[in-house]
This record gives sequence, C-alpha cells and structure tokens, in this order.
Amino acid sequence: MIETHHLSKLYSRGLHALRDLTITVAKGEFVFLTGPSGAGKSTFLRLLLLQERPSEGDIVVNGHDLSKLSRREIQEYRRGIGFVFQDFKLIPNRTVLQNISFVPEVLGVPVAQQRRKAFQVLKWVGLQHRMSAYPHDLSGGEQQRVAIARAVASEPVLLLADEPTGNLDPDLSLEIMNLLREINSGGTTVLVATHDRELIRLVGRRTITLDQGRVVEVA
Ligand SMILES: Nc1ncnc2c1ncn2[C@@H]1O[C@H](COP(=O)(O)OP(=O)(O)O)[C@@H](O)[C@H]1O
Ligand SMILES: [Mg+2]
Repeated sequence: MIETHHLSKLYSRGLHALRDLTITVAKGEFVFLTGPSGAGKSTFLRLLLLQERPSEGDIVVNGHDLSKLSRREIQEYRRGIGFVFQDFKLIPNRTVLQNISFVPEVLGVPVAQQRRKAFQVLKWVGLQHRMSAYPHDLSGGEQQRVAIARAVASEPVLLLADEPTGNLDPDLSLEIMNLLREINSGGTTVLVATHDRELIRLVGRRTITLDQGRVVEVA
C-alpha cells in the first residue's frame, strides 16, 4: 500500500526531517510509526498526503507514484485517504452530523445518501444521539470519535492518524485504538504515528521507530 525509496526531506533551515527512508506497509496492515518528538513522524504523514514534497526519493501509494500525479489526480488520491489529527480538527460552527457530511456535500453526494452514511458511521462510534451537538459540547474523546467517523465515512483505502490520542487519557486512548483496529479489520490499511510506547505495547502491531529522521528499528 505504501512504499518509499530512499526518501529524504530537508526543510529550508538545512535540517533533515527524514533521511533515506525505505519503508513498506502492506495492503491491509496496521502499522505504528513511533519515535521521540521531532523524529519526523508528522513530516512522513504530510509527505503521504502531499502537503509537503520530498527532497529526495520517491513514494508509491496504492500503485501511484506520488511525484507523477496531476493536480486533479492529487484531489482524487486525497479522497481515498482518511486522516485523523491530535486536535480533532472538527469545524466549530457545524454540528456533528454536518461535520461528517461536509466533504460529501462539497463533492455533491445526494443528501439522502450523505445522511445514511453519516448515521451509519455515527452509530458505529456510538454517538448517534449527539448528532445535533456542536464540537464544543463534546468531550475530547467524543470529538475524536466524530473525527474518526468523518474519516471513515468516505470509505478510505488508507487511514493515517497523527498522534490521535495525544490529547486523551489512557482509557480513551485505548478506545480510539480499538476503533482504528476495527477499521483495519474491515480491510483499510492503517498507519498511526504516536510517541506513546505504552499504547503500542497494548495494541501490539508492527512498529517502525524513527529517530532524527532515520529508521532505527522495525519490530
Ligand atoms: N514546516 C517545517 N519547517 C521547518 N522544519 C520543520 C517543519 N516541520 C517540521 N520541522 C522539523 O522537522 C523535524 C521533524 O519534525 P516532525 O515531523 O514534526 O516530527 P514528529 O512528528 O516526529 O515530532 C523537527 O526537527 C522539526 O523541527
Ligand atoms: Mg508530530
């Protein structure tokens, strides 16, 4: 699903955020990306989303060489990826239901179909009774569940999560991981960046460890 070859990212200050990374994530796999703060985890995810471009090397996702995509293909490619952030990134002045329907609405998906899918994913995360609430009325754990529901509503082939439990306490963190595992058992490839070694130990999946932009361990 993801292959990188000698991938490097050098930001303008002359510091290597990533250095010569050759990594493979198989289709259907659940993989952790870990390492201390500044190791390059977020940079790696941003490269996968084409929010940044590599300085050297290449990235192939689901058979697409990311450096060769046209503008239109980039839009299409991004739609196939679900993304979950540490700070949830819900739209504050839209309800839970409207947050989940936002992208389908922009894409012109028929309203009935948007709603059906939104109800289905909300039910799955156990928040159908909160569909008319606004993000600020929800706890952090609930907001992250809405964000996950939104990410899966588009049925992504790949789900990327950047410190999805960084703002949550350990019980809620495990709950979020269980949702990600469930998504994975439905066939979606999942890549989770986290510095939380304890959580990784509890979940127990293949783990790629970065330090100062290099792979230091695969376990
Ligand atoms: N936009 C940027 N411009 C310059 N340097 C950056 C930028 N983003 C990240 N970095 C640097 O790249 C390195 C890796 O950062 P990051 O990918 O955020 O690591 P992590 O997510 O593992 O904490 C750090 O040294 C960071 O300061
Ligand atoms: Mg980060």
